[in-house]
Amino acid sequence: MTLYETIFARRSVRRYDKTPLDEAELSGIKTYLDGVKQLPGQSARFEIVDSDKLKGGLAPYAILAFADDGDAARVNIGYALQGVDLYLQSAGYGSVWCGMAKPKEPQSDYRILLGFGKTSVPLRKGEEEFKRSKIANVSNEDNDVARAARLAPSAVNLQPWKLTFTDGNVTVRSSVRGIGRALPGRLYLFDLGIILKHVELALEHSGKQPVEFKLDCNGKDSMVQARY
Ligand SMILES: Cc1cc2nc3c(=O)[nH]c(=O)nc-3n(C[C@H](O)[C@H](O)[C@H](O)COP(=O)(O)O)c2cc1C
Repeated sequence: MTLYETIFARRSVRRYDKTPLDEAELSGIKTYLDGVKQLPGQSARFEIVDSDKLKGGLAPYAILAFADDGDAARVNIGYALQGVDLYLQSAGYGSVWCGMAKPKEPQSDYRILLGFGKTSVPLRKGEEEFKRSKIANVSNEDNDVARAARLAPSAVNLQPWKLTFTDGNVTVRSSVRGIGRALPGRLYLFDLGIILKHVELALEHSGKQPVEFKLDCNGKDSMVQARY
């Protein structure tokens, strides 16, 4: 299954098998992680740990993300690790973003983690199994890119975004309302990077190569633009 196809089947997995991954499996995931695409000018660092190193981890393993405290650094982590979320699920593992978990040993540049492990929870059968807003509520156009973007995971499933398609551009703006404003850790910035990964994969799938990503980060008024 390709990463694009996995967009229409993935889910947050919170039930895992106890069987540990063997060395070869973990090293395959590490190799993918070492080569994962990041946004221009960004250089987050990632580390795989066992869940016994965490408070509140939801899975047997986790990928910890480290970066500076900026808005753009958070968008970049969302973008990079959503590629990994899709990769893991395409390879038969379960995964789940964990905004509420953290390492037991505090580290000042720790930002968020993605839990993962073996699971027998099946992938979704299709778009109809996702709980998401209607396309008309989140996008000015109904097209294949909007369909894939709409399915992006977000903290508390708030889907804090609006998509605008103009000639050769897709812009995603943060639209953080209600409890989204009160959530700690500026999780809506990871959400923005996560949806950008879905936008990129869907553009590529439709034969449109993204040539530039523009970030304009200002807390809750942040936006990302993909030009193709
Ligand atoms: C940035 C971020 C943080 C999240 N944090 C948590 C969390 O702490 N605990 C949890 O159970 N799920 C967490 N989630 C998972 C979301 O609740 C989930 O993605 C959303 O409800 C949509 O469901 P789906 O991923 O199954 O499509 C998080 C998701 C994102 C994107």
